[in-house]
Amino acid sequence: MAPSAITPETSPERRVYAKKSINEDQRSRSNSIAAGTIKLNDGNEIPTVALGVYKAPNGPETEAAITAALDAGYRHIDSAARYANEEACGRAIRRWLEKTGTPREEVYVCSKLWDSDHGYESTFNALCLSLEKLGLDYLDLYLIHSPAEDEEKRLESWRALETAKRLGKVRSIGVSNFGASHIESLVQNARVIPAVNQVEVHPFCQREPLVELCAKYGIKIEAYSPLARGNKLEDPTIGAIAAKYGRTPAQILLNWNASRGNVVLPKSLTPSRIQSNLESFDFQLAQEDIDTINALGSSGNYVTGSMHKSDD
Ligand SMILES: NC(=O)c1ccc[n+]([C@@H]2O[C@H](COP(=O)([O-])OP(=O)(O)OC[C@H]3O[C@@H](n4cnc5c(N)ncnc54)[C@H](OP(=O)(O)O)[C@@H]3O)[C@@H](O)[C@H]2O)c1
Repeated sequence: MAPSAITPETSPERRVYAKKSINEDQRSRSNSIAAGTIKLNDGNEIPTVALGVYKAPNGPETEAAITAALDAGYRHIDSAARYANEEACGRAIRRWLEKTGTPREEVYVCSKLWDSDHGYESTFNALCLSLEKLGLDYLDLYLIHSPAEDEEKRLESWRALETAKRLGKVRSIGVSNFGASHIESLVQNARVIPAVNQVEVHPFCQREPLVELCAKYGIKIEAYSPLARGNKLEDPTIGAIAAKYGRTPAQILLNWNASRGNVVLPKSLTPSRIQSNLESFDFQLAQEDIDTINALGSSGNYVTGSMHKSDD
């Protein structure tokens, strides 16, 4: 039987298609599924695909990639203070909004608190600096990039995020690289449960125990390095499944992740890849192929550095 698309009916998540207010001539050429959103535990919607911009320079190349992504239909940009490219991201986003007459609310922007800024006041200052660099009044999502080792400091940073949410500087707050113990400690002490945990997840690093724990608290997984940084695109199992569906290995990796209800954050500065990554969601993998991919999984197969290995 021909595989069908990941649709609101077939996806484990209810996908809600984003309203597009852009002009007809700016309307995306790509499928609308990529503009789908899922609901977070605070009631806000998050677009399920983001352009990741780690290692993207703070200049024209990144601005061009973001513009290409927004033109193609992406509505979510994942940056961070650590990536040192917030100015370029902000310039590209603001210019595109103006050019297309799109309201700010339709592009979802995430940034992250870097490790050196943990603590209540320094977190708040770091957030203000990110907003200034981006040239935006608010962020859709702000994350603690990595858990501070010191629990008290970690909780102070979280309290600052809670305050920022209350003040409207951020719409949703979450964490990144939090392992099971960090999540448990935060949930016990927080007023606001994190909306997301952004962690490395792909078929070679499935993190099932952590994913299940997050699900228990209604915390969505944002899968970073969903293409395993390009290191697994030659994998024979993925290659065989890609051939079966007439897709690229990258599209199989992204589709697998999205079929689990995860937000995916593929990074590319290459316009053709930006486009083809977005075209990963208009088919559904058969259960037997999902099972085959699931069998590749190993919790320890990280492609990112040891800094990003949480304790799950
Ligand atoms: N919170 C955290 O600690 C954390 C850590 C890591 C990543 N992240 C986020 O997740 C995003 C993605 O992760 P990542 O950048 O580590 O890795 P990734 O998205 O898994 O892989 C990016 C690499 O794959 C290449 N690529 C992209 N699309 C491709 C395609 N269709 N075919 C072949 N190669 C392709 C890119 O090259 P080109 O650019 O040359 O096309 C780049 O070298 C980051 O940008 C960042 O936003 C967060």
